[in-house]
Amino acid sequence: MSKLWGGRFQKSAEEWVDEFGASIHFDKELVFEDLKGSMAHVKMLGKQGILSEEEASQILGGLEALKEKASKGELTFSVAQEDIHLNLEKHLIDEIGPIGGKLHTGRSRNDQVATDMHLYLKEQVESIIGLIEQFQTALVEKAEQNVETLAPGYTHLQRAQPISFGHHLMAYFWMLQRDKERFQEGLKRIDVSPLGAGALAGTTFPIDRELSAELLGFSKVYANSMDAVSDRDFILEFLSSASILMMHMSRLAEEMILWSSQEFQFIEMDDAFSTGSSIMPQKKNPDMAELIRGKTGRVYGNLFSLLTVLKGLPLAYNKDMQEDKEGMFDTVHTLIGSLKIFTGMVQTMKVNEGRLEEAVHNDFSNATELADYLASKGIPFREAHEIVGKLVLHCIQHQCYLADLPLEKLKEASDCIEEDIYQVLSPYEAVKRRKSLGGTGFDQVQLQIETAKSLVK
Ligand code: ARG
Repeated sequence: MSKLWGGRFQKSAEEWVDEFGASIHFDKELVFEDLKGSMAHVKMLGKQGILSEEEASQILGGLEALKEKASKGELTFSVAQEDIHLNLEKHLIDEIGPIGGKLHTGRSRNDQVATDMHLYLKEQVESIIGLIEQFQTALVEKAEQNVETLAPGYTHLQRAQPISFGHHLMAYFWMLQRDKERFQEGLKRIDVSPLGAGALAGTTFPIDRELSAELLGFSKVYANSMDAVSDRDFILEFLSSASILMMHMSRLAEEMILWSSQEFQFIEMDDAFSTGSSIMPQKKNPDMAELIRGKTGRVYGNLFSLLTVLKGLPLAYNKDMQEDKEGMFDTVHTLIGSLKIFTGMVQTMKVNEGRLEEAVHNDFSNATELADYLASKGIPFREAHEIVGKLVLHCIQHQCYLADLPLEKLKEASDCIEEDIYQVLSPYEAVKRRKSLGGTGFDQVQLQIETAKSLVK
C-alpha cells in the first residue's frame, strides 16, 4: 500500500521493517483524541479562511463519520499506514475523497501526536483523581469504624506502642491525599496545547493556536514551538506521581498480606479478592494485594524507561519519542485497575478486633507508658528508661507482663510508683492519652477523620 509520505521514495520498505517502525498496535488507543484534535484543527482552518467554509465542513463531516465508525468498532487499522494519525487520514481520504488531504494543512504529526497525548492524559488523570478519592473514602469509612479498635503499632516490625487501628488506616488516607495533589498539580502542565507548533518551527499559514486550544478545552498554549513538540515532561511527571502512588499501595498491600496471614490474623480479606490453590484445598491467598505489590515494579520501570529514552535527544522531535506511549498506557491501566481493586479490598475486609486486642495486651508495648509515668514524677527520662528496661527483663525471665507485677515489685524499682500505674498501663488508656496533635488518641483520630471527610467529595 502506498505511503501518505511516499513522494520522495523510490522503493518501499519491506513489510517487516514497516512492522518494526509502526506504532498503530498501541497508538490506536488515541483514536478519539486524534479525531478530536483534527476536528478542532479543521474548524480553526475554516474560521481563519485557510480552508473554505465548504471544505472545512466537508472534512468535519468525514471526521464525524469516522468517529461514528470508531465507536462501533468498525474502523480497521493497518501497519502499512504506520500510526493512528496516518491511518485516520487515509480513512478520511477514502471517506470523502482527495479533499481529505487538506486536513493536514498547517499541521505536522509532531504537534498532532503531542496534542493527542495531552488530551489523553488530561482525561485519564481526571478519572484517576476520582478513583483516588473513592479509595480514600473507603479508608475513612473503615477507619471510622475502628477508631477505638486497639492495635499494636510497629517500628522495625517489632511491637512498639499501642495505637488506634483507625489511626493506622488514616495514615494511608494522607499518603493518598498527597498523591491526589501531585496529580492535580501535574494537570496544570498537561493542560497546555501544542497544536499549531507544526513539525518544530510553526507554520506560514495564518493559524489561530488559541482558538484550537480553546476548542480542545486547553487552558494555555505552549509558548515555543520546539518545546511544544519535544516536551514529554508532563508524561514523566505523571509516571513519577504514579510511581509514588503505586509505592503507597504496595506498602498497604504488604501490610494486608501480613495481617491476613495465620501468624497475624488481624484481618480477613473478602473471598471476592482472594484466590485458592490448585493443590492445597485449605488455602486462601491474597492474590490481588500481591499483584498490586508486583505491578509497582512495572510502573517504576515505565518511569525509568521514558527518562532514559529522553535523556540524549536533541531538539526537536525524534522517532525515539514514539516509545513514550506504551509505558504511559500501561501505567494508566495499572493505576485504574489497582485503585478499583484496593477500594473493594478495603471496603470488604473484616477487622478481627479480638486478635488485635489480644496482641496489644500480651505485650510490652505499654513499656513507654511506665517510663513516661516515671518521667512525669520528675525522674529524668533516661533513668526512667533504664528502670523500665530492667523491669521488662525481669518479666521476660519470669514469663509475665508489666501489668502482672505486684505493686511491691514495682515499688522496688521506683518508690514513686503508685496504685494508679495499673490504669496507666492499660493499652486503652495508653492510646486515649496520646492527645498530642496528630497523635493516636481517639479524639485526635476522630478529628483527622472529620478533616479527611471534607477533603473527599
Ligand atoms: N507515531 C509517531 C509517534 O508516536 C507520530 C509522530 C511521527 N512523526 C514523525 N515525524 N515521524 O511519535
